[in-house]
Amino acid sequence: MKIIVCENYRELSKTAAEMVAECISSKKICLGLATGSTPEGMYDCLVGLYEAGKCDFSGVTTFNLDEYYPISPDDPQSYRYYMDKRLFERVNIDKSATHIPNGLAPDPELECTEYEKMIAACGGIDLQVLGVGANGHIGFNEPGDTLLPQTHLTGLTPSTIKANARFFDSEDQVPKHAITMGIKTILSARRIVVLVSGSAKHEAIKKLLEGKITTRWPVTFLNLHNDVTLICDKEVYYGTT
Ligand code: F6R
Repeated sequence: MKIIVCENYRELSKTAAEMVAECISSKKICLGLATGSTPEGMYDCLVGLYEAGKCDFSGVTTFNLDEYYPISPDDPQSYRYYMDKRLFERVNIDKSATHIPNGLAPDPELECTEYEKMIAACGGIDLQVLGVGANGHIGFNEPGDTLLPQTHLTGLTPSTIKANARFFDSEDQVPKHAITMGIKTILSARRIVVLVSGSAKHEAIKKLLEGKITTRWPVTFLNLHNDVTLICDKEVYYGTT
């Protein structure tokens, strides 16, 4: 695993954006994307690169890791809304080439199967951007006795609901379920870049770097992949504040 320890969040965001921009500059490419607070700075930097004429999204197809369920795509807390506002409406991407699980799918199981089919039809994900939960989740693959390989409907753990309550008016409003890519879906990406910031995630990163694989810390499954770049700040790497 390649590890880049950045001075601060700003440097982390810039480094990640440059890596994504380099990847999309030359050709048609399929990107896997994450939401949450960690990649916000990366999306701002990518918009900056686009505005400076250094980044062209016209050949880019995207698949997001996850979406709450149930939630309307128009809901400001939905990941569809987040992606539209933070990236898609600010760059020259073809909106019909952006994919996020439908938080209102009448048949979530079918939605998951179709999502996997669409990723396969696009030739698989070239570069997957990931964040990590303090409990070690990736996508919404939560710690437990088992993990599922493919896109599926899952329950969120109380700790994730609590952590994500900051985006909602109250904890009660956080949806209790989500549709998420599975561990195999994530590991099938040709390259993976993991963004992690802040001392609250130190334990998760420690587990990842120990190299043992356990369903209790889903992030440790990244040790099975041979092209992972971890971009983190000093706080998370050294566990200091
Ligand atoms: C978001 C996602 C989650 C987040 C994780 C970290 O699409 O899949 O796994 O990456 O919860 O979230 P932040 O960055 O808000 O700490």
